[in-house]
Amino acid sequence: MIDLQSVSMRYRDGTQALRDIDLYIERNEFVFITGPSGAGKSTLLGLVYRDIVPTSGKVVVDGQDVAKLRPNRVPYLRRKVGVVFQDFQLLPRKTIWENVGFALDVVGASRREKYRKVPISLELVGLAEKADAFPYQLSAGQRQRVSIARALVNGPPILLADEPTGNLDPDTSWEIIQLLRNINKQNTTVVVATHDREIVDRVNCRVVQLLQGCIVRDAKEGGKYDAS
Ligand SMILES: Nc1ncnc2c1ncn2[C@@H]1O[C@H](COP(=O)(O)OP(=O)(O)O)[C@@H](O)[C@H]1O
Ligand SMILES: [Mg+2]
Repeated sequence: MIDLQSVSMRYRDGTQALRDIDLYIERNEFVFITGPSGAGKSTLLGLVYRDIVPTSGKVVVDGQDVAKLRPNRVPYLRRKVGVVFQDFQLLPRKTIWENVGFALDVVGASRREKYRKVPISLELVGLAEKADAFPYQLSAGQRQRVSIARALVNGPPILLADEPTGNLDPDTSWEIIQLLRNINKQNTTVVVATHDREIVDRVNCRVVQLLQGCIVRDAKEGGKYDAS
């Protein structure tokens, strides 16, 4: 589903964020990308949703070499890959319903499609009754649920989450991870970048550990945050 082949990423200022990464993630896997701040986790996710293109190597997402996507095909990739961030990135002046619907506007969905899909997505994250609320009226955990609903409204086969629990307390973090696990069970490949040790240790899933832009461990059968 996601295939990185000898991928390196060097930013314009010369920072080498990833070095010769090989990583294959199968359809419907649940994977943690771990490692300290600056290890290259966000860069790795950014390559998959084509926020950035690699300096060298190949990034293949659902059979498509993303570097070869013509600009007018990028929205098509966005339908395949939903993304969730630490800071939720909701539009403060729009309702929850509108925030989720916005992801459908971006890909040019019809009004009818919106009215069909937004309620399904809000239902999925348990927030149907908050459709008319504004983000400031929700707790941090509920806001993260909205951002997950928005990421899923296009029905993408892949969901990427970059430090999704970074702004949440431990109990709320655990609820969000369980929601992501349930989404994974409904045939979505889920990749979570995190340095939340407690969560990784509790879940026992595949753990890909990054350090200074290199994969230093890939515990395919499930692992703890630290190898030791
Ligand atoms: N846009 C950018 N320009 C230059 N350097 C960057 C940029 N984004 C990230 N970096 C650098 O790349 C390295 C990896 O960063 P990042 O992928 O954000 O790591 P992580 O998400 O694991 O904290 C770090 O050294 C970081 O400072
Ligand atoms: Mg990061």
